[in-house]
Amino acid sequence: MKVKFAELATSAVKRDQYPADRGREIVLLGRSNAGKSSLINVMINRKNLARTSSAPGKTRLLNFYRVRGELAGQPQQMYFVDLPGYGYAKVSHSERDRWLDMIDSFLTDPGAEKYCWQLVDIRHAPSAQDITLHNTLKAAGYRMLTIVNKADKVSKNQRAGQLKLISQTLGVPKSELMVFSAITKEGAEQLWELADAFLLEGREEAEAMAKEADSAAAEA
Ligand code: GTP
Ligand code: MG
Repeated sequence: MKVKFAELATSAVKRDQYPADRGREIVLLGRSNAGKSSLINVMINRKNLARTSSAPGKTRLLNFYRVRGELAGQPQQMYFVDLPGYGYAKVSHSERDRWLDMIDSFLTDPGAEKYCWQLVDIRHAPSAQDITLHNTLKAAGYRMLTIVNKADKVSKNQRAGQLKLISQTLGVPKSELMVFSAITKEGAEQLWELADAFLLEGREEAEAMAKEADSAAAEA
């Protein structure tokens, strides 16, 4: 998709605050500081629309970024949804429960077709929370992608070893891990290819539904 416009549509806590014009959305999940907001900025070609910070735990709300552009010769809209990160130590139990409720309520909301992108840091073995989230999403049947971020932080030699470790820990074949760097933009093009395929599927679905409605109307 050729991005022409992007804005923070809304920051939400609960369902009635979500934008009304959602269709398909890409959801960023991962530990605090994994680079979710940075990845969104790379995808939409903006320096700091999604707010990033070296202090973890910065994103406390569900941030809906509305993106418009052109895909396969037609106008296209989508959302990136930046979820607050987990694994931030300085969070109380009640705060963590609120976080879980907020995420759960969002993920189970039927208002949009979701593609879950989970980010992990190439330098570390996935945490227990990474693994739990990964398995939960998989069991729930979400379309998902594991993105190994901060690839610029390790050498070529270290990369192979870390990918193997992450692949084994999460149970994802190495060939299905998407290596990414917000600094070098490695992987960004492939991410857009996956995003585009997801969006085009939505378009085909909508066209098929419109056709069905047309023929039902013709029959009546
Ligand atoms: P929360 O909002 O706290 O959940 O964090 P986040 O996942 O949105 O992370 P964010 O994008 O704010 O990035 C955290 C820090 O990592 C920032 O200092 C970024 O500049 C840095 N960072 C993000 N991606 C990369 C990357 O690919 N390479 C390097 N070297 N640094 C990165
Ligand atoms: Mg963030």
